[in-house]
Amino acid sequence: MLRKLLLGLAAVLVPAGMVAKAAEIKKLPQPDKASELMQLIDKRHSSREYSAKPISEQTLSDLLWAAFGINQKGTRTVPTAMNKQNLNVYVVYQNSIWTYDAAANSLIKVSDEEISAYIAKQDFVKNAPVNLIYTGSDKDFSAFHAGAAAQNVYLYAADKGLNTIVRAYIDKDELKDKLHLDRDEFVIMNQVIGYPEG
Ligand SMILES: Cc1cc2nc3c(=O)[nH]c(=O)nc-3n(C[C@H](O)[C@H](O)[C@H](O)COP(=O)(O)O)c2cc1C
Repeated sequence: MLRKLLLGLAAVLVPAGMVAKAAEIKKLPQPDKASELMQLIDKRHSSREYSAKPISEQTLSDLLWAAFGINQKGTRTVPTAMNKQNLNVYVVYQNSIWTYDAAANSLIKVSDEEISAYIAKQDFVKNAPVNLIYTGSDKDFSAFHAGAAAQNVYLYAADKGLNTIVRAYIDKDELKDKLHLDRDEFVIMNQVIGYPEG
């Protein structure tokens, strides 16, 4: 009876497979962080401090290319499910809303509407000169696409001394409306980019 009780207790406390896994541990070598890429990955972080210092068109072009540009193979800088390349990157820059056209390396104006109230639900966002809004229509994979694009921007920011953060605390319904998204297209998240204070 006691044995049964103890076995039952062990089953509750020890997750399945834990004992077998714990018995076989392979200690790995230290990560080799010598390369520039590894150092940038190490430096990547989210910032909640932005100055109003403007971002140049060159920097904007570079960071948008990092996010979702066309690479040397002719696909995108991030992988997309079945190579559908179905992520959209909206850019709030210089008081207008734009959409990024990677093939033409251009911004196409969506509107001059003021939408900061729907993005800037946290005060630190208000100063930032660039806000990206990722949208997609793939229920399974859009979040993955946006996450990969955002990570590229994080690494670009780490390289260039920019601050960035991804944010889900935005008004997605209002933004869907203001960006004139099609019925199946939805807002995934926001990424803030700017220079640090001082
Ligand atoms: C999907 C997602 C949504 C997030 N939303 C917010 C947000 O709305 N506001 C915020 O301040 N940080 C947000 N963050 C940033 C996280 O808080 C941050 O990544 C986490 O604290 C780890 O910090 P690190 O990015 O510097 O490693 C979000 C991160 C992710 C991945």
